[in-house]
Amino acid sequence: MLALHRFHDKIIAVTGASSGIGLEIARHFYQEGASLALCSRSKERVWEAVSAWADPEDPRLLLLSADTAKVEDIYAFQEAAVKYFGRIDVWVNNAGIERPMPTVDMTPEIFDAVVNTNFRGYYFGCQSAARDMLRRGTGGTIINIGSVNAVTVVPGQAVYAATKAAISQMTKLFAREWGRDGIRVNCVAPGSIPTKINAEKYKDPAADAAMREKIPMGRRGDVSEIADVVLYLASEQASYITGQTLFVDGGLTLVHG
Ligand SMILES: NC(=O)c1ccc[n+]([C@@H]2O[C@H](COP(=O)([O-])OP(=O)(O)OC[C@H]3O[C@@H](n4cnc5c(N)ncnc54)[C@H](OP(=O)(O)O)[C@@H]3O)[C@@H](O)[C@H]2O)c1
Repeated sequence: MLALHRFHDKIIAVTGASSGIGLEIARHFYQEGASLALCSRSKERVWEAVSAWADPEDPRLLLLSADTAKVEDIYAFQEAAVKYFGRIDVWVNNAGIERPMPTVDMTPEIFDAVVNTNFRGYYFGCQSAARDMLRRGTGGTIINIGSVNAVTVVPGQAVYAATKAAISQMTKLFAREWGRDGIRVNCVAPGSIPTKINAEKYKDPAADAAMREKIPMGRRGDVSEIADVVLYLASEQASYITGQTLFVDGGLTLVHG
């Protein structure tokens, strides 16, 4: 049986916590007693979203604006969290964007926005979290939110898919680099989960039905099913797991091969 407050003495940082998967991850950790530093590009949006389940002025919460496509914002977010809480035990790189389009229509600006948020942002997020964990010498856990797109082949997703494949590879490299320092690094790769990122794509009921048809379990996932796995990987129950990408996709990757 799991303890109700597995994370009561833990400090968690989550990027992209104003909606969807990041917000749900934050809610689960909060309900299990953790203290949290949360950011998105808009502190106001995080504040409003968190208000649904917590008092945003709770001293267990630090809500900030940080654009993870900008390295200086990542460093400032990490430093503010360490200054306020004293350390970070679990860092979750979640902030991500998707801009599906035919490759012939891709522009350097959109390319940079996706790569800087999904790849550069994760790389420097891992670096800033690990620097502090290494300095303290007490270890910690980093969890990257990847995607089934790391292995599936969906036309129009070349840039997004490449960033997500990079996240899985980076996860392995960092797990090896920091393994002896007690830092575990893992990746949770969601399948199709209704959130803002794909609302437009699936507002057509036929597109939603086609996706459900493709998924072996016959349904799209729920944000809570991703958050549960993130908390598991962050917990002591996963103390010997590192460098892994765990697909949480109802079997979708089995179909795409
Ligand atoms: N939903 C799915 O089916 C699915 C599947 C596979 C992987 N994922 C991954 O899951 C992660 C979360 O996505 P989601 O589905 O929860 O979508 P979402 O509801 O659109 O959430 C994305 C979050 O990232 C934040 N964000 C975006 N760019 C940012 C930046 N530059 N700096 C800081 N925050 C930023 C957004 O907040 P602001 O707009 O307030 O900045 C928002 O809080 C992403 O990495 C996505 O690739 C999702």
